Amino acid sequence: MSVREQYLETLGVDVWKARTDSRPPLAEPGVAMAAAVASAPAALVAPPAVAAIAADEVAWEALRAQVSTCTRCELSQTRTQTVFGVGNRRADLMVIGEAPGADEDRQGEPFVGRAGQLLNSMLRAIGYARPTLYIANVLKCRPPGNREPKPGEVACCLPYLQQQLDMIQPRLLVALGRVAAQNLLATDVPLARLRGQVHRFGARATPLIVTYHPAYLLRSPTEKRKSWVDLKFIRAELARARAGA
Ligand code: URA
Repeated sequence: MSVREQYLETLGVDVWKARTDSRPPLAEPGVAMAAAVASAPAALVAPPAVAAIAADEVAWEALRAQVSTCTRCELSQTRTQTVFGVGNRRADLMVIGEAPGADEDRQGEPFVGRAGQLLNSMLRAIGYARPTLYIANVLKCRPPGNREPKPGEVACCLPYLQQQLDMIQPRLLVALGRVAAQNLLATDVPLARLRGQVHRFGARATPLIVTYHPAYLLRSPTEKRKSWVDLKFIRAELARARAGA
């Protein structure tokens, strides 16, 4: 049984066949391209392309270094390490969670625990393997005991996310759960009313769709059916955004 079929079976949703994204995974393309350029014969490499790739790499590494030493808020005192974000720096789709949990704080990567495994199968069900997208959180540091982010912490951290967004320029953002959605959209409207529509985020007015947090779905499996409705909406919006490009 395919991963999608397994996920749908878990959801209790009838299986139907849909086209999946057949693009090969593009893990950390900046790194891969830089390595390819470095090993290419000099005559084959156009200097402006090399310069652009190098500048991109420098910008990413500068941001990563800034985040890893950040002391803008008190979470810097309790974190094990910052959780920068992971994935394809040319992604069409960027997924944004709330904040690192215990597993993420330990491993330095977003969504690596049980919620991450469910997130991976949700995305694979609509044709997106994890390495093809970019995953980050509203906060780069774990709040102690997984408490909700404080407004001051969000204010300190959001500029980092905005910079990641500016560099990736995804076609679509997906906010996972009430906390991520309300903080990104600066609203206190309940999640149920934020689902099912396309919002806009940031200076680029990037389209943003809200869906359930996978950790919530693990606690409330009966909501998984509604999450499948959201996933189909996400897939359709991405197809529409690509077609209009
Ligand atoms: N929950 C989140 O919101 N983000 C993570 O990275 C892990 C769990």
